[in-house]
Amino acid sequence: MIILAIETSCDETAAAVVRDGREVLSSVVSSQIATHALYGGVVPEIASRKHLESIAPVISQALRDAGVGMDSLEGVAVTRGPGLSGALLVGFSAAKAIAAARGIPFAGVHHIEGHLFAPFLEKPVDFPFLALVVSGGHTHLYHVEGFGHYTTLGRTIDDAAGEAYDKCAKIMGMPYPGGALIDKMAQGGNPGAVRLPRPLLHDGTLNFSFSGLKTAVLQHMAKYPVTIPGDEANDLCASFQEAVCDVLAVKTAAAIKQSSAVRLVVAGGVACNNGLRRRMSILCTQLGVELTIPHPLLCGDNAAMLAVPGHYYLSHNLLSPLSLDVTATWDMDSIKESI
Ligand code: KG4
Ligand code: ZN
Repeated sequence: MIILAIETSCDETAAAVVRDGREVLSSVVSSQIATHALYGGVVPEIASRKHLESIAPVISQALRDAGVGMDSLEGVAVTRGPGLSGALLVGFSAAKAIAAARGIPFAGVHHIEGHLFAPFLEKPVDFPFLALVVSGGHTHLYHVEGFGHYTTLGRTIDDAAGEAYDKCAKIMGMPYPGGALIDKMAQGGNPGAVRLPRPLLHDGTLNFSFSGLKTAVLQHMAKYPVTIPGDEANDLCASFQEAVCDVLAVKTAAAIKQSSAVRLVVAGGVACNNGLRRRMSILCTQLGVELTIPHPLLCGDNAAMLAVPGHYYLSHNLLSPLSLDVTATWDMDSIKESI
């Protein structure tokens, strides 16, 4: 089954052509980051307008790269939510229009489901598994029993890990989004240089909190401003990254023990982070858990990842009606009730 996948939940307009939910024939990602960076973060109205400009060319490019025409498509998978409503609507409407015009089925997919199954494009993971999803909007631990069957074990009660990275970067005067730059600068710094809190570390839950960490960086910067590039800036980045990784590792270890998991998937944009990849690798070796983290190119937002659950739904006749709408908020746990 050849599927066209479309993603427009935030600031990337993406389309991909994927065969059988496994083989990526093409994957095009058009980023709006340069535009939003001027404003220090994503501006929803600008995101929608940029998606409108890019959606048709991006889809055409994906078809050209894959060497297939519209008539070869057998289904469409698209992000239904969560995300910015106006941004979601652009990709969702394009998907519905193509499905209606071609007389093929379409499936509205949860954005985080895409992230969860991104590693399947390299090698499928056996069910059940524990998943840590760390992105700009999510920091969640899920028990994954199968496609559509997710149970949230823990989640952030305020900022997501990626959001914390981006806010900390902004405080330090870096351009949006600063996660990757903090990661790079952290390589040259001392992780023990600045004492920063590890919020909720031993609270007995699997929840996370990152807003206090951001405030601590703000307070440190008020007392000891750093300039970039510089050793002090590298030290602050390394200390921040160490605090984030400590919290993610301790909570993930607790979730592994609590759910007796033997497999862990780490996914989402922050899964690109070198410190986190190293830390999770050490943790899983210690606990005898099989670790899967996708290639960095598959961690960030892309459309190909949606074709994995999309293929499952379409090939099991779990189709979305053309009357379906986007949803800005969407609880992953509720999906199992609808399939
Ligand atoms: O999954 P994603 O592409 O979009 C969302 O669904 O949010 O994640 C984007 C987030 C941003 O906050 C970005 O700063 C962060 O991932 N990120 C990183 C790194 N690369 C991207 N954070 C830390 N280290 C990185 N290397
Ligand atoms: Zn994402």
